[in-house]
Amino acid sequence: MKNTESISQAGRIGIFDSGVGGLTVLRELYRQLPNESILYFADTARLPYGTRSHDELVLFTSQILTWMVQQDVKMIVMACNTSEALALETVRPQFNLPIMGLIQPSACAAVCQGKRIGVIATPATAASNAYLLAIQSIEPAAQVWQVGCPEFVPLVEQNRINDPYTSLVARNYLAPLLQQSIDTLIYGCTHYPHLKPILQKILPASVKVINPAVHVVTAAAQKLDLLTLRNSRAPLPTRFCASGCPQQFAHLSRQWLGFTPVVEEIHFPDESSLDHSLRLLVR
Ligand code: DGL
Repeated sequence: MKNTESISQAGRIGIFDSGVGGLTVLRELYRQLPNESILYFADTARLPYGTRSHDELVLFTSQILTWMVQQDVKMIVMACNTSEALALETVRPQFNLPIMGLIQPSACAAVCQGKRIGVIATPATAASNAYLLAIQSIEPAAQVWQVGCPEFVPLVEQNRINDPYTSLVARNYLAPLLQQSIDTLIYGCTHYPHLKPILQKILPASVKVINPAVHVVTAAAQKLDLLTLRNSRAPLPTRFCASGCPQQFAHLSRQWLGFTPVVEEIHFPDESSLDHSLRLLVR
């Protein structure tokens, strides 16, 4: 870990996702850490991440973290379960700053709530068993059922949350979990809290829902305290960046932010122009 004296309290917290899912984490940062300045990156040119390979996710995550360090962030909060599940362990040793993950704090929160735990996630996250392993390392007796939901992220990014087709898809994804009488459901992808209005109509009221955004930000707040890195000045306006069309991201985000963000376009080099050490990481 970097000597914390060299990290500035006034530095931004970097958060990233493939798209608008990370806004659910941003919302929690605004709620729990209102004095912090934030850098948000959406890799919209390359979404969805949930059907990408391990090598692709390692490459994308390395590129984004490298760029965020160049922007002088003081901490990174993962706002993408898929990157965390498939790439974080591989890339973390390359970076000397605190990187907060969603999965462990959410697994802890889930085992406090119930013993029959359902996880909805992207196909890549579900196949990685990251949530299953995290939950059972804390509570071996917990039972876990995971469902990969490939259609959810494209539906959210296409702004089709209120489309009747989305409700139909949601019913199909939740059916096997409801058949198992789950008592707790984890939103294992940061896009899914945006679907809360439709998911709530399908879930019995007795099922407790875990939104990992809440728990990763609580963990980040504790880490900032531990490292005496909380910002004591007035926060800067959030800096929004995207790899795809900035206007499209701004337009879609408006419904969750309550304002239209100014979005910068950021491009990463393709693999052929990457430096040698980064290329080795993805082999
Ligand atoms: N929102 C991301 C996650 O939490 C990834 C979504 C995607 O692009 O598939 O996994």
